[in-house]
Amino acid sequence: MELHFLLPLFASLLFVFVFLKKFIQSNNRRLPLPPGTMGWPYVGETFHLYSQNPNVFFASKQKRYGSVFKTHILGCPCVMISSPEAAKFVLVTKAHLFKPTFPASKERMLGKQAIFFSQGQYHTQLRRLVLRAFMPESIKSIISNIESIAQHSLHSLQGRLITTFQEMKTYTFNVALLSILGEEEVLYRGDLKRCYYILEQGYNSMPINVPGTFFNKSMKARKELARILAKIISTRRQMKMEHNDLLGSFMGDKECLSDQQIADNVIGVIFAARDTTASVLTWIIKYLGDNPSVLKAVTDEQEAIIREKEKCGEEQCLSWADTKKMPITSRVIQETLRVASILSFTFREAVEDVEYEGYLIPKGWKVLPLFRNIHHSPEIFPDPEKFDPSRFEVVPKPNTFMPFGNGTHSCPGNELAKLEILIFLHHLTTKYRWSMVGSNSGIQYGPFALPQNGLPIRLIRKS
Ligand code: HEM
Ligand SMILES: *[C@@H]1O[C@H](CO)[C@@H](O)[C@H](O)[C@H]1NC(C)=O
Ligand SMILES: *[C@@H]1O[C@H](CO)[C@@H](O)[C@H](O)[C@H]1NC(C)=O
Repeated sequence: MELHFLLPLFASLLFVFVFLKKFIQSNNRRLPLPPGTMGWPYVGETFHLYSQNPNVFFASKQKRYGSVFKTHILGCPCVMISSPEAAKFVLVTKAHLFKPTFPASKERMLGKQAIFFSQGQYHTQLRRLVLRAFMPESIKSIISNIESIAQHSLHSLQGRLITTFQEMKTYTFNVALLSILGEEEVLYRGDLKRCYYILEQGYNSMPINVPGTFFNKSMKARKELARILAKIISTRRQMKMEHNDLLGSFMGDKECLSDQQIADNVIGVIFAARDTTASVLTWIIKYLGDNPSVLKAVTDEQEAIIREKEKCGEEQCLSWADTKKMPITSRVIQETLRVASILSFTFREAVEDVEYEGYLIPKGWKVLPLFRNIHHSPEIFPDPEKFDPSRFEVVPKPNTFMPFGNGTHSCPGNELAKLEILIFLHHLTTKYRWSMVGSNSGIQYGPFALPQNGLPIRLIRKS
């Protein structure tokens, strides 16, 4: 056979081969994006998200596109995920490919060195310090203090018409300060509360830093908070006393955290601890009010604990062991966390192009695990809208129930949150009754879902 005949054939084969290789490679790199619509540029679908119950928005998208879909919110392209497998992928197994992310104004308000925004070694260090202060061994020692905060708070509320959420915020703020500053808390409560309440008005305001704006006032309050904390830190350094509260943990000699880093994280913990726990308490009070048989079961369980202590001649304070004898009350907390799903989702950002189930999640896109959709999936929780604590008699499967998240950024305060809720409910159900005032079927949004108007109730001491 003549060579001049073979050469073109060979050349064209080579060409086809190179072309195919290129095609296969680029095809690999150009995986399809997840299904979904992107809305108008910039405004994106934010308007839809905020103009209705956000859960309706998420649920209708999921119905249309499945458990992984793309959209556009707050000016950012993003992928929303709503299956246990995808949540595990983003939060646990491939957590290193997804960094936490918040709007820049929030970062400035909370302090950019706070635990939420941090990664790598610094995050590991902060987490160790926070977990040390909030693990069961440490919070056991403040049970009686939490109890007296709960009793004082209930005592001051009886006989009045109150806004449940407002009052629960005061309770959870005081408990948060106790866990941060120990018993010294009382000395600084007034000043810290005043500054924090100004600071929080800036959380959801426009980040315009000129005199007179909420944002400017709130940045000022933030500086004052840092000053007060610096004063507490320097007093503690002079006294050279050991403290096993959160501030003591942050101030450890070997940790070398700056005052600014400590301030950012103290403010961050108050932010993470107060409104979350207060809105869960508000929802529990609503669900107990709506479900008399559940309220009776909880009250019976709590009264049994008092009776048992009387029989043994023990003192009347609750102990850690007592809080472990509250299975019915604990299931009410779990079911409330599921139905209300107050943190309906969290934010991450892909640090590189990531492939998931044949789809491309491009570098820089936001990724939102939708906890609420998972918690309201009828395949996982039959009749999901129904409040039924008994469903938690069976332990939920991994990554189907994540009110405290999962993985490296999951909530380090979850034991404290459950403890302070149990203690409050113990005193509430055994000593008080309450009635809800006005229409109470509505829900308000922003940023958390809450019963309408913060749930006005009237609280009366049982005779
Ligand atoms: C019932 C009340 C609470 C709920 C539902 C809740 C929920 C959560 C969730 C879902 C996360 C993870 C967010 C993510 O992965 O992006 C988180 C993080 C966090 N929570 Fe909680 N939380 C509660 C109470 C508390 C309390 C009482 C404290 C402190 C005393 C606290 C401190 C924190 C901190 C510091 C983080 C950040 C952890 C990190 O980035 O490594 N939380 N919380
Ligand atoms: C408030 O705004 C003024 C003017 O922009 C600025 O100089 C000042 O630093 C702001 N205050 C704070 C605490 O950021
Ligand atoms: C978190 O993820 C791990 C690994 O998948 C799993 O074993 C665990 O049960 C999950 N936690 C929750 C609260 O679902």
